[in-house]
Amino acid sequence: RAILARATWGDGRTTAGVQSAQTKNNEQLPQDGAPTKALQNIVLGGLNRHAVFFSAALPKRVFPPLFNRYGGAHNSFGNHVDNAVRFIPGTLGERVRTDVSCTLFLSEPDEYDGGELTVEDTFGAQRIKLAAGDMVLYPGTSVHRVEPVTRGCRLASFFWLESMVRSDEQRRLLFDMDSHLMQLRESAGEADPAVIGLTGTYHNLLRMWADV
Ligand code: NI
Repeated sequence: RAILARATWGDGRTTAGVQSAQTKNNEQLPQDGAPTKALQNIVLGGLNRHAVFFSAALPKRVFPPLFNRYGGAHNSFGNHVDNAVRFIPGTLGERVRTDVSCTLFLSEPDEYDGGELTVEDTFGAQRIKLAAGDMVLYPGTSVHRVEPVTRGCRLASFFWLESMVRSDEQRRLLFDMDSHLMQLRESAGEADPAVIGLTGTYHNLLRMWADV
């Protein structure tokens, strides 16, 4: 947040497609600036330490995180879908298929009004506004928007990742299974034969479905 407070912001439309540029009205840190590089290291370091993130996303390639600000005259991003394939800047055409979209909230919810990330999915619209430091992962296939910020300012990091397991359905099964296995290890112990067997099943499913 200290780095963000000193940074110079640019137009958010620089990373938008033709269609989403029409509804995108926010500010972003320039992708190649020193503040962005420093912040990317902090976020990527956090992801590497986070076992639940790994279990949920099964990341293969992570797009270098971007940083945005909603507030004042630049306060919203209407309904859009994210591009399916992103080229990583500064590489010779390295690409990321955007299986999973990530939004890491960097402002506390009481610092601004509005600014919910609204994701349309099969269960209806999910409105998401998390504590600073918390992140939501959602399917890259969804239509989503950021509601207008009517007071204060909303800082966030956002990025996409390509998962080793492309299918949302398979990834969800693996995440559920891994989460329950964690609980089982606690209650039954690591040496329990059923725990060892189910851990094997988890890894065998991952081996069947993962593309590394
Ligand atoms: Ni988006």
